[in-house]
Amino acid sequence: MRKWNFSAGPAAIPEPVLQEAQDEMLEWQGSGMSVMEMSHRSTDYIDIANKARQDFIDLLQIPSDYQVLFLQGGATLQFSMIPMNFGSNKIADYVLSGSWSKKAINEASKIMDINIITSSESSNFNHVPDADSWNCSEHAAYLHYVSNETIQGNALHTPPATKAPLIADMSSVILSEQIDVSKFSMIYAGAQKNIGPAGLTICIIKNDFLKTASTELPDMLQYSKHADADSMFNTPPTFSWYLSGKVFAWLKDQGGLATMGDINRLKARKLYDFIDQSGFYSNPISIENRSIMNIPFLLVNSELNSEFLHDAENAGLLNLKGHRSVGGMRASIYNATPIEAVDALINFMADFQSRHG
Ligand SMILES: Cc1ncc(COP(=O)(O)O)c(C=O)c1O
Repeated sequence: MRKWNFSAGPAAIPEPVLQEAQDEMLEWQGSGMSVMEMSHRSTDYIDIANKARQDFIDLLQIPSDYQVLFLQGGATLQFSMIPMNFGSNKIADYVLSGSWSKKAINEASKIMDINIITSSESSNFNHVPDADSWNCSEHAAYLHYVSNETIQGNALHTPPATKAPLIADMSSVILSEQIDVSKFSMIYAGAQKNIGPAGLTICIIKNDFLKTASTELPDMLQYSKHADADSMFNTPPTFSWYLSGKVFAWLKDQGGLATMGDINRLKARKLYDFIDQSGFYSNPISIENRSIMNIPFLLVNSELNSEFLHDAENAGLLNLKGHRSVGGMRASIYNATPIEAVDALINFMADFQSRHG
């Protein structure tokens, strides 16, 4: 029996996608083999890969002067590949708004000079400082920020206007709503939240910016090598790419990202409204920076945490434990988590409160 899975990642995948993959597991469309067994150079697989990439481009309305790369190494490898490719002998600006920004900063500072242009660390990352207050460098190679901090549950909903090329880690928010890709020089995201299974990382890079990338690095670390090889410089994560393609097709069937944005905002609003009026649960993030994907909440009495998690699991609500650095609970409500799951969570929370409030 499948249950409601609120995991932050790897996270829920739409059930119809899993069913289709199950139907095709032993043999993909008369090919005599599973997708997992195909050469990535075969015409069948190239068709699968190209369709997935095109659907992704269509969904995000990515302009034609961008490359879309399907890579490996997780979003974490991007924390170093970005400064390696774009940072030599330069300075880069970083926004420190949560745990993932911090990791990105730690990695980049091993490679280049960085300037932390703003930080909300002293207030436990309960907001993202307003872009007007950022202390940007005069000649930064780029400005990096994490548009949705998965652990703290904060988000910068509007891309900041910057002089420097803008780079965003969108691992936990990509495909959750329509965005204007043209505002960015680079966007990257690990797959295992809103894209598909783990093992794949998607990078969207503007051609102008890509031209400035280093060509001195080992080949696997050069974005331009991957772009020149259509992301087949070496064997790509074929199954993850294939399954992500099915998620993209599913998203198109749902009505695309404008529709998903409406649904996701509705899901988040329902949960935040319930938390705010409960007097029993609380969310610490400033209203304008609340994530629509990852919603942490605390119980009024933390001694009830284990009982809450235990009862939630019995009620079919999984993976609600908050990250150890924040405590409490966290509900991750990505695209594959339907409104019914959020309703079930709210009903459970109300019931738990009535038993313990
Ligand atoms: C915003 C963000 N950035 C980076 C990462 C790291 O991703 P990966 O594990 O794919 O390297 C995560 C993972 O949860 C994340 O949420």
